Amino acid sequence: MTNLDRYAVFGDPINHSKSPFIHHHFAEQTGQKLHYSAQQVSAEQFTTQLNDFFKQGGKGINCTVPLKEIACQAVDHLTHRAQHAKAVNTIIQQTDGSLLGDNTDGVGLVLDLTQNHQVSLRAGNILILGAGGATRGILAPLLARTPQQIVIANRTPSKAQQLALEFAHTVPIIGCGFSEIPGQKFDLILNATSASLSNQLPPLPDGLLNSQTTCYDLAYSNKATPFVLWSQQFTDKSLDGLGMLIEQAAEAFYLWRGIRPETQPIIEALANDRL
Ligand code: ATR
Repeated sequence: MTNLDRYAVFGDPINHSKSPFIHHHFAEQTGQKLHYSAQQVSAEQFTTQLNDFFKQGGKGINCTVPLKEIACQAVDHLTHRAQHAKAVNTIIQQTDGSLLGDNTDGVGLVLDLTQNHQVSLRAGNILILGAGGATRGILAPLLARTPQQIVIANRTPSKAQQLALEFAHTVPIIGCGFSEIPGQKFDLILNATSASLSNQLPPLPDGLLNSQTTCYDLAYSNKATPFVLWSQQFTDKSLDGLGMLIEQAAEAFYLWRGIRPETQPIIEALANDRL
């Protein structure tokens, strides 16, 4: 076993994970010595594997599908953003040995939008598609940027309405079905459904966007997702979740190592990789 500080991403499936590549790049860039591996861990194995990893001297864990919700129960403490998200993607071992669960997905999205793509969220009119775990993870960091309004549209409207009720304290939030989306042009449309993973597009009504609208698929894939292809008909500002993937990793790296890596070089390297 390596003497380097050890980190890992747990998930199932995990073989296509880009996280080891990203974290080794960050380590090289910042002069940190560490080893980061991808480990296939099912929901049933999670608690045992997590405890073993830290008992054997591991320093930190990322969790991905299907472990983010279970991870909330497996750690000793949760940050506020993990509590809001009801999901953990980063686990940090504290000096007393206890495990702190955090969620860096939402901040990763917000950093990608605002810093890498100069999308202003303040006073914006935002449409979020989907009302599952991904939407729950991004709502609090988006609301902290004080948009004008958020509409959450979901195949099962009651789930969107439930999230709207839960989160609408500072900014108006409407929860509805896809056919009930209020007729207006949005500044930003975020696809937080898992439809892209099965190569599908949510059933979207006409008239939601114009050429000024930014469209962002939280999913990331080597080829354009159905949502990105759909949005490219209307706007040049069509993005997918590559930047979010790297920004959430940079935030995790910062939590573990206390040093913030540059993200632009690896965003460019991975974007060029799929050209
Ligand atoms: P995740 O953690 O990725 O958000 P999830 O919690 O299972 O996964 O949520 C998946 C989301 O994608 C839900 O909002 C789901 O809609 P329902 O709540 O109606 O199930 C949405 N979704 C999945 N496939 C979809 C599709 N083909 N079209 C539209 N919405 C879809």
